[in-house]
Amino acid sequence: MEIFIFFPSWVLTALLVLFMSFIVYSRKSSSNVVYKLPPNPPKLPIIGNLHHLLWQPRPQALWQLSQKYGPIFHLYIGSKPLLVISSSAMAKQVMKTQDHIFCSRPNFKATKRLTYNFLDIAFSPQSSLRREKRKILVSEFLGPKKAKSFNQILVLETESMVRSLSLDVSKEEVNVSKIFLTTVKEVVCKAAFGMNYKEKPSKLGLSWQEILDEAALMLNGSLGDNFPWLGEIFDIVSGWNSRLEKCFANLDAYIQMILDEHLNHKIEEICDEDKDFVHRLIELSSNENASNHRLTKDDMKAVIMNVFTGGIDTTVSSMEWTMSEIAKNPRVMHKLQSEIRNTAGKIQNVSEMDITNMTYLRMVVKESLRLHPPAPLLVPHECFSHCQIGGYDVFPGTSAILNVWGIGRDPSVWGENAEEFYPERFENLDVDFGVGNFEMAPFGAGRRSCPAMNTAPITVEFVVANLLYWFDWKVPNGAKNEDLDMEEEGTLIVHKKSPLCLVPTNISMA
Ligand code: HEM
Repeated sequence: MEIFIFFPSWVLTALLVLFMSFIVYSRKSSSNVVYKLPPNPPKLPIIGNLHHLLWQPRPQALWQLSQKYGPIFHLYIGSKPLLVISSSAMAKQVMKTQDHIFCSRPNFKATKRLTYNFLDIAFSPQSSLRREKRKILVSEFLGPKKAKSFNQILVLETESMVRSLSLDVSKEEVNVSKIFLTTVKEVVCKAAFGMNYKEKPSKLGLSWQEILDEAALMLNGSLGDNFPWLGEIFDIVSGWNSRLEKCFANLDAYIQMILDEHLNHKIEEICDEDKDFVHRLIELSSNENASNHRLTKDDMKAVIMNVFTGGIDTTVSSMEWTMSEIAKNPRVMHKLQSEIRNTAGKIQNVSEMDITNMTYLRMVVKESLRLHPPAPLLVPHECFSHCQIGGYDVFPGTSAILNVWGIGRDPSVWGENAEEFYPERFENLDVDFGVGNFEMAPFGAGRRSCPAMNTAPITVEFVVANLLYWFDWKVPNGAKNEDLDMEEEGTLIVHKKSPLCLVPTNISMA
């Protein structure tokens, strides 16, 4: 109390202000402290380290650099540093310990335009509204509430896939990649847009597939994203900007068509079980959500766009790689077929319940996701405040690239046979997606993890199990199974470069 008697309050206030100024000043002057930056490969003027990525697929190139520069290093594409993460320990720091700081996304021209100015879930920066939309996607499309109707559609479409394959049995070979695309597209679109969903030509004359392929290409980014000024000029002169506008117009017209069809329905007359995801979005748009926001038309369209771009290509890629590895490894194929055929029995059907008892099948799909994560570098995570990772300073606005392709093949974690397709390794390993020690993270982890992390592997397991229950598979033209080519193609989502073509031979279950 005495201190107030000796010093009038204005003196105390002045002292307090002086003290605070000293703290601020000393903090400022401590900014002269030399920060510890991650190592980085020598860079060239203007292009930075771009030349390091030109000659081989990006995950492989980044993995090789990590062998020299360590599990965390900087790479400059133009003038912008990227933080490249290449070990499970560092991945855990980014996606768990510091997840609250690394849960934003970088601002790219294509992601901004194709998401209606960042109104989506996957590419928009972190915000409470984005979290609300993510919750809606989980509860109204991916979660247990919708599991029954999703499974019904999956069963029907898988049956139709098997039926049409039976007609192809006498054929030389079938394009398995194309079959996966048709099946997954039907399942995802019928679950999201209703059982009556039929692919229609857009008013602009392009097929759905053409629209989606173009969107995937644009989402890979442009020169202007990394090279301010020069890249920007190049994007205009090369026609990239107008191509993006055209791509957006096509995508938007297609999504608008789906939304209009639903807006014509009297939703209050549809029973809850028959409502699809778009019906629910429209219903929810009439109420304010927890962020005091009402979903606008653009909000709904951006979320639908995520279902298209996030749900189909990734699942198809995962099926394609799993089936390729199975075909390449006859030992695995025979072991898996006996598990599937013994579990399902001779009842001419593989049910979703049977799948839960197929432990080897689960290991096979997991092993495929370890070696071939469909998004090998995830989607970049952007850091929004200063922090330290692995003892290095990282500044706001830095994008982290998580090389889950390399992490999944790290011999210091997976042993000398890390490159081998060996599903049995999971018999004694307690490794799961996005938890524990991040030995593999094909779905990412934390606030930005894939919301379909628990459901998507089951879809892959179910379709693959049916293909192996009904048919035996050979590589065409008398080639050896082991020689099946596994070359990759793609940037954000990686597919097999040449489509997977196999010869189905019918089996008798009687
Ligand atoms: C095997 C299939 C799938 C794989 C391998 C996969 C993989 C991924 C990956 C790697 C990410 C980014 C994670 C990160 O940045 O840390 C992601 C995000 C996302 N995925 Fe999937 N995905 C699959 C299926 C699906 C499906 C069926 C949907 C449903 C529509 C979906 C919707 C999304 C969404 C909305 C995001 C953004 C999450 C966010 O930023 O909060 N994915 N997925």
